[in-house]
Amino acid sequence: MQTVRAPATSANLGSGFDVFGVALDRPMDVVRVEKADRTTIEMSGVGSQYIPEDPDKNVVGAVAEALDAPARIRIDKGVRPSSGLGSSAASAAAAAVGLNALYDRGLSRSELVPAAAEGEAVVSGTAHSDNVAPALLGGFTIARDGAVTAVDASIPLVACLPEIAVSTRDARDVVPESTSMGDLVHTVGSAATLAVGMCRDDPGLVGAGMDERVVTPARAELILGYESVRAAALDAGATGVTVSGAGPAVIAPCRESNRRHVAAAMVDAFAEAGVESRAYQTRVS
Ligand code: HSE
Repeated sequence: MQTVRAPATSANLGSGFDVFGVALDRPMDVVRVEKADRTTIEMSGVGSQYIPEDPDKNVVGAVAEALDAPARIRIDKGVRPSSGLGSSAASAAAAAVGLNALYDRGLSRSELVPAAAEGEAVVSGTAHSDNVAPALLGGFTIARDGAVTAVDASIPLVACLPEIAVSTRDARDVVPESTSMGDLVHTVGSAATLAVGMCRDDPGLVGAGMDERVVTPARAELILGYESVRAAALDAGATGVTVSGAGPAVIAPCRESNRRHVAAAMVDAFAEAGVESRAYQTRVS
């Protein structure tokens, strides 16, 4: 038997739609795999009642098939589904690592990215790797045309998860099909700033580089209270704020000394909008 933990992740980070991702040091999924003649899945933990145990409908079923590695798979969810914190990617990445070890496949973490991404296709319709790449490799990742670049990064961050659900499919449906040259230039500038910030462990540059005018405003409409939570986080010292992945979690990088204050401000602002939330005081790692 193999037991593997895989972290929550945040993908996009505002300016890096379907490109940037980060691994967070909490929350986590724990996945246990044992060899079996056919794949079975047992779910427990946060939101597990909403996740099908049928291997044809569960992300890890697709991963087991991609690796030709049937197993009894038990998943203890720490990352809530439909959170924007890479819930499906955490399970897929942990299963990929566990099955690779169980069957002595000898694949590297990078080589496991495509297999884990197959799981993403089950939930979102697209085998994109911007969440599974950081879940497998850690730090800050850039996924481009199937190739992944990963760098170590350490940035304090608050991930505030409201008690509302936004499905990835719905959040992708609101993304505009085209953009103007002006907004494209702005996004490229932000993305470059963010990438340099990650390489320098600089929360100021990372926060500034999250600014983006195309995808984020459309998705923010799906999150009740987003604008006031954003304003409250910035007032409390966050260096930037954006939607985490497809939402509804909202992330805010900050200096370590401000993190508790930013977390409390975000929870309070959601509460004022009538939404309960939980803030994870976490870190890109
Ligand atoms: N990049 C994806 C999106 C991440 O924003 O739709 C969600 O898994």
